[in-house]
Formats: sequence, structure tokens, C-alpha cells
Amino acid sequence: MPTGPVLVVGAAGKTGRAVCGALLSRGAAVRAAVRPGREASAPAGTEPVAVDLTDGRGLDAALAGCAATYHLAPNVHPDEVGIAERVGDAARRTGLRHLVFHSVLHPDDVRMPHHLRKGVAERALRQRVSGSLVVLRPSAYHENLLPQVLDGAVALPYSADTPFTTVALADVAEVAATALLDPARDGEVQDLVGLEALTTREMVARAEQVLGRPVRLTVGTPGAWAAGPGADLPASAREALAAMFAAYDEDGLVGDPAALTALLGRRPTSWAETLAAAGTASALPPS
Ligand SMILES: NC(=O)c1ccc[n+]([C@@H]2O[C@H](COP(=O)([O-])OP(=O)(O)OC[C@H]3O[C@@H](n4cnc5c(N)ncnc54)[C@H](OP(=O)(O)O)[C@@H]3O)[C@@H](O)[C@H]2O)c1
Repeated sequence: MPTGPVLVVGAAGKTGRAVCGALLSRGAAVRAAVRPGREASAPAGTEPVAVDLTDGRGLDAALAGCAATYHLAPNVHPDEVGIAERVGDAARRTGLRHLVFHSVLHPDDVRMPHHLRKGVAERALRQRVSGSLVVLRPSAYHENLLPQVLDGAVALPYSADTPFTTVALADVAEVAATALLDPARDGEVQDLVGLEALTTREMVARAEQVLGRPVRLTVGTPGAWAAGPGADLPASAREALAAMFAAYDEDGLVGDPAALTALLGRRPTSWAETLAAAGTASALPPS
């Protein structure tokens, strides 16, 4: 175990919480970077530190004395590259020894601006970080579809018949924790991809089998999405997601599961296993 805490950027979000949990379960000390004033949102068991990623305030203090940092950007943030530059500059100033960056599968796919920003952010970090750097490129998570499936109704603004090799967030977090606690892996770039290539229609059918109840699937137009669920998003996020839906409509999002299988040392968690665990949890009476 390295000396000094591990800083997790974006610790209060979906991914950050999973990474903090995986680190805590291994006995690591975890510092949770959260927005100023939102310290109470830090995951239990972590040390909250206030960081504003939009201007870098708090980054140097948060990084001081850390053994490693997990950097993830807020989802579809228009300034993802500026955020990476600020994190990379602070890492260099504070002499950080090890940084793991949460990128995305296919960061050079020109159809998706937010994927391209991840590719540029990877390069910005490589130019700045003087310690070791590992890049993880996860596919779309099982957990993106899971809440709708558990609610019994999935509404898609893209084809239900293109394939996705989705990945369990817990598997991503497990690999992230291993990478953070092992600074000897400098330079690694790893795709984190689930085993099965399933269309959303197949994922919904499997959900009905595992959960034992019907799940309604409807496919709408991108325009209806933009005027409905997407209407309250900032324009840049709406445009990025609309471009992503158009790419998903063409050929889904598919990668090679070999690296994740090797990194985990076991078969990645299947969609059915994620469903079974979530279905059991949602069936439990509140404690
Ligand atoms: N979902 C997927 O399938 C998938 C797959 C591959 C890669 N990714 C990438 O994973 C990353 C994380 O996604 P996510 O869904 O876990 O993100 P998220 O839930 O939006 O979490 C981002 C966190 O960043 C915090 N944040 C936002 N603005 C901030 C600021 N100015 N200063 C400090 N903190 C700020 C948010 O704070 P609040 O909680 O206070 O808002 C939130 O806790 C994204 O970059 C995404 O592209 C996602």
C-alpha cells in the first residue's frame, strides 16, 4: 500500500463513488474532491476536500501529500480539456507520483465531440504529468440502462438494434483501484469492455428474464429527446449527447473485452449478474 491518501476527483458522482468504494474496501485512505460547499456529498469514509474544477481552486491543497490521484471529468463537460490541463499542472506543481485518468472507449471517434475531448485530455495529461500515468478507457456502463430497466420502462433516442459491449461499473472501479495502488504501471492504456455484445433490445429481454417482470421498450426520435428529457441540459451537453446518439444509431459502441478480463483475472461481470444483484437489492425491504 503506497504512503499517503489517494485523491479521487469527481468523488461524489456515479463513477467517483464506485472508485472511492473500491479503494476503501482495500484499506486505502481516500481524499474526495467535491465542489466547494458540497463537502457533505463526499462518500462515507473519505476525507472531503473542496476543489473547483472550473478554475482549479483547491487542487494544489487537495493533491498535497497524495500517493496517487484518480482524475475523471464531470460528464459531457465542455471544458474537459481545460479541466485536465488544470489537474495536470497541479500534479506537476505538487510533485504527484502517480495519476490514473478515466477516459472513454474510442476517444478518437470523430463523430462524438465529448469522446474527442477525452483524447485531447489524455494528451494534455501526458504532456504535464511528470510521475507515472495510466489511462483507462471504459465502455458504456451497465448502470446507464439499469435505472430505467428497474423502473420497467426504457425509452431510447437511438436504435434498439445496434450492439454494445457494456461494462459493470464495479469492474471498472476494481481495475481503477488496482491501477491507483500500483504506480509501477506507467504508460498503460487499457480499454475496459464487457464480454457480451448485446443490442438494447436483447438487454431488455434479458432483464425481463432475470427480473421476472415486463420491461417496456420504446424508441423515439432524437428531436423528441432534445425537446423532452434533453431540454433542461446545457446546450453543449445536449449537442454532445445528440451526436453520441447518432453514432450509437449507426453502430452502437463495441470494444474488445480481453484487457478487462486479464486485469480482473476473471470473467467480467455479465449484464445478467448486474441485473440479478440490483433486482435482489431493490426487492429488499428498506433497512
Ligand atoms: N457513464 C458511462 O457509461 C461512462 C463511460 C465511460 C466514461 N465515462 C466518463 O466518466 C466520467 C464521470 O461520469 P459520471 O457519470 O460518474 O459523472 P458525474 O456523476 O456527473 O460526476 C461528476 C462529479 O463531478 C462533480 N463536479 C461537477 N462540476 C464540478 C466542478 N466545477 N468542480 C468540482 N467538481 C465538479 C460533480 O459534482 P456534483 O455531484 O456536486 O454535481 C459530480 O460529483 C465522465 O467524464 C464520463 O464521460 C462515463
